[in-house]
Amino acid sequence: MNKKSVLIVDDEAGIRESMTGIFEDEGFAVMTAASGEEALERIAEKMPDLVFLDVWLPEMDGIETLERLKEQKYNLPVVMMSGHGNIEIAVKATRHGAYDFLEKPFSSIERVMLVARLALERQRLEEENLLLRADAGRRWHMVGSSAPMLALREQIALAAQGSARVLILGESGTGKELVARVLHEQSPRAMGAFIEVNCAAIPQELIESELFGHEKGSFTGALERKIGKFELANNGTLFLDEIGDMSLQTQAKVLRIMETQEFQRVGGSKNIKVDVRIIAATNKNLMEEVKKGAFREDLFYRLNVIPITVPPLRDRSEDIPELVEYFAESFAAENGLRPKRFDDHALRVIQEHPWPGNIRELKNAVERLVIMVPGQDITRKQLETLGILQSPEINRSGGYFAVRTLREARDLFERDFIIHKLQENAWNVSRTAELIGIERSNLHKKMRAFGITESKEQDEQ
Ligand SMILES: Nc1ncnc2c1ncn2[C@@H]1O[C@H](COP(=O)(O)OP(=O)(O)OP(=O)(O)O)[C@@H](O)[C@H]1O
Ligand SMILES: [Mg+2]
Repeated sequence: MNKKSVLIVDDEAGIRESMTGIFEDEGFAVMTAASGEEALERIAEKMPDLVFLDVWLPEMDGIETLERLKEQKYNLPVVMMSGHGNIEIAVKATRHGAYDFLEKPFSSIERVMLVARLALERQRLEEENLLLRADAGRRWHMVGSSAPMLALREQIALAAQGSARVLILGESGTGKELVARVLHEQSPRAMGAFIEVNCAAIPQELIESELFGHEKGSFTGALERKIGKFELANNGTLFLDEIGDMSLQTQAKVLRIMETQEFQRVGGSKNIKVDVRIIAATNKNLMEEVKKGAFREDLFYRLNVIPITVPPLRDRSEDIPELVEYFAESFAAENGLRPKRFDDHALRVIQEHPWPGNIRELKNAVERLVIMVPGQDITRKQLETLGILQSPEINRSGGYFAVRTLREARDLFERDFIIHKLQENAWNVSRTAELIGIERSNLHKKMRAFGITESKEQDEQ
């Protein structure tokens, strides 16, 4: 472990000496200063990990020195030291950013060391916290400065202020979940939890227990009490994703909670009250669902207090270069690869592509390129080789990295590859088969299996 350093600031030489002894015995590197001015000089030369600062100093006193340190944005734990007469000043200093105070003469060496260790530990935790928050900031970073994105950001900022329900609409992959998370983080509930429920992924028979929790033994398999998402989201935000896929039965329950902010766990009898902000999202046209009778009209209006529509990527293609750069950088960093450069031609082609799978599709494509392209530069040719822009049908589902098994990925690649080669050879099956080294009949079979037909591909272009 690195030696910790401490700066002792006291005008009494005796105190400086005895404290130096104590800290050196405990393995600290010790610096000393006899005045506030000298302390500032020492710190400017070399940042200590911890400062012990006397309240009473000639000329610039301890409080003023503390203020100077704060002005200079030094993020240093400072412990104030005081004699009998001025303990109140030391206490007051803790309100102005000092970490703690100690009264002189010290009651024991242990007490001094305890205060020192606690101050260092808290500093460590604070730094860790800052890092975590910076990390979270990166994770929920929303890229884009096109006009539609600026408008979206404005809507998010406005909606974040209150606790009104928000309904986020938009095509698949446009960033609805990201919008929900950013909104939560900008809201006064940011300190509370952000709890996500994917209404489409949870089997209907489990969704109630998922949302409301259950008591032990309330049904077969309920071995323990379970706290539901509504409870977990107390004082925070509950994100009901894919709300369009929720059954009518569950819709009725959710509606009731919205009215009362109160519910019971499955198999329980106690009313549980929560303070939860609900954000819902769907890529379905909910009005249509209402007309079809698949979505409750009353629930729709309750959710739709603040509607936010996330625009499709094709309506904000100005953002594409920035997004590409952002994704390329983060994937390279994640995989320990050197950053890649997209040449202008490649970027232009990417920008002109309609991206039916929106940002998710673009993100997957960039990931594929960063990992699969061996060199530093990504060119138009490589986009073609990797079949990035060729098969809207495949890409719509998210590309190779959206599937789970090697076999599915291989199938996708095979289909991409065959289409590409057929296009290169003007859909001459015999020639293509010969070139890629398989039998003509086999190629026909594969084309049938993958649903590849010339007319279809042309329709899609
Ligand atoms: N503006 C943006 N900047 C950076 N990354 C983004 C942006 N928008 C979306 N993403 C990323 O794209 C991916 C898809 O976004 P998200 O999951 O929020 O979309 P969605 O609209 O919820 O999609 P679906 O309807 O399929 O659930 C995520 O990895 C997200 O972080
Ligand atoms: Mg989503």
